[in-house]
Amino acid sequence: MTSAGARPARKAVIPVAGMGTRFLPATKAVPKELLPVVDRPALQYIVEEAARAGLGDVLMVTGRNKGAIEDHFDRHPELEALLEKKGDGDRLAAVHESTDVAAVNFVRQGEALGLGHAVLQAAPFVGDEPFAVLLGDDLIDARDHLLEQMLAVQAEHGGCVIALLDVGRENIDKYGAVAIEEDTQEGVVTITGLVEKPPVDQAPSSLAIIGRYVLAPEIFDVLRETAPGRGGEIQLTDALATLVERGEPVHGVVFDGRRYDTGDKLDYLKAVIRLASERDDLGPALRSWLHEFVSELPAEGASPS
Ligand code: G1P
Repeated sequence: MTSAGARPARKAVIPVAGMGTRFLPATKAVPKELLPVVDRPALQYIVEEAARAGLGDVLMVTGRNKGAIEDHFDRHPELEALLEKKGDGDRLAAVHESTDVAAVNFVRQGEALGLGHAVLQAAPFVGDEPFAVLLGDDLIDARDHLLEQMLAVQAEHGGCVIALLDVGRENIDKYGAVAIEEDTQEGVVTITGLVEKPPVDQAPSSLAIIGRYVLAPEIFDVLRETAPGRGGEIQLTDALATLVERGEPVHGVVFDGRRYDTGDKLDYLKAVIRLASERDDLGPALRSWLHEFVSELPAEGASPS
């Protein structure tokens, strides 16, 4: 297992092969990762988060119907030339943002056999060093530095580090759940067990895995031997549980910042409104409209006129 003080993580893996069935029909032809959050695809926020944390070498694990993702992170010479000709510097900068933010590479998953299987496709890209995995449905506010904190914990303790959020016991069956030992330091816990989407009454705690991981490369050998688990899929959670059983260090960073689940319709809408209302360009007008709109809303249960 990677020891503390070893090479820091430099690479990020973003699995984007999911079908996005929760957003049908919007996601019939458009990858769910490209649905806009205000004016940027959700996925661009994720790549920016990785780059901010120093992980400028990104691999996306894609699948069928995800070609538009490759186009988004690629250059668009005709569009750039058009904007240049018009002297539209702001929009040109916006177009460049998606290509300049990181070096984005792609590999195809072939068969959708689960998150663990998607991560395994990154083995040749990652090589023998720790790396991060960021799941596209979880958007972490740019003002909260979860990934940086996780990288620091990994550099200190070695092994693997996962992000945790207390989602309440009633919601834990939608997530990977963990058993923990008392905090070793503020907000950092030692993981003693993991289980993927347990029934509420069997969950080891209300602490859920949210979509950020810093993993040791040893995870790949474990994933190769991991049998399909929950839902018949090869689960990353199960591979991490194997590492814990072998006595390898797996730590959790308990997040208390702002997270938006853009894979859920209601949370997606909240994310768009919150982020837009805080922007300098859109915020003032949106906030004043929101105040007016809310004051005119009918009470819960009544239908709008
Ligand atoms: C995946 C993981 C799960 C984790 C979740 C976070 O599940 O398997 O352990 O809690 O992401 O979003 P999915 O949401 O892909 O079913």
